[in-house]
Amino acid sequence: MITVVLSSGRKNSNSSGMANRLAAAAVKAGGAIERYDLAKMDFKGCTGCGSCRSTTDSCVIRDDLSPLLASLKRCDAVVLASPNYYGYVSGTFKAFLDRWYSLRDAERKLRLPAGRPLAFLMSQGHPDPEGYQNTLNSMSTIFSAYGFETKTIIGAGLQGPGEFTERQELLSELDAFGEELSATLRKSK
Ligand SMILES: Cc1cc2nc3c(=O)[nH]c(=O)nc-3n(C[C@H](O)[C@H](O)[C@H](O)COP(=O)(O)O)c2cc1C
Repeated sequence: MITVVLSSGRKNSNSSGMANRLAAAAVKAGGAIERYDLAKMDFKGCTGCGSCRSTTDSCVIRDDLSPLLASLKRCDAVVLASPNYYGYVSGTFKAFLDRWYSLRDAERKLRLPAGRPLAFLMSQGHPDPEGYQNTLNSMSTIFSAYGFETKTIIGAGLQGPGEFTERQELLSELDAFGEELSATLRKSK
């Protein structure tokens, strides 16, 4: 099963479309998708209460992120998508990411299996895919701290909604990584 997380609020979003395309290629030969659209969900950011690292084994905030955090623990692969906002991920995406704090215990041991693939997809208006390398490095450092092996795919030069569909090279890259994930899904059966 693949957990897919979308974080753009706009219709015909590039980042969400990219994630859906990749996930569709991954499950073409079988497998399930659990899709979470953060813009339609009601959730809070981390309050830093520290309970998850002391008294409980999960986040004490019970909201729409609770089933998503549980899904991250049992999936075979993860696909995360964000638009680039001011050189970083969207605020919605960051609020989700802060809640990952609960995925480690008091000894900072992972509450997740390690070694699973994660695709991080970002769409941006800037035409240079390497224009925000610091952000990409920072994201992949966080994901690897939670045991994931990150593959990053950037949709660059995408301003208007749905523009990703006009980029053949990008679509091929999404399909190719989807097929790689498909092999991971078959192995885990
Ligand atoms: C609030 C806001 C900030 C943005 N900041 C940047 C930016 O710093 N660099 C950039 O390349 N594009 C920026 N953009 C453009 C978006 O990243 C771009 O339109 C992207 O394709 C949107 O993805 P979506 O269709 O998934 O929402 C910004 C857009 C918005 C609305």
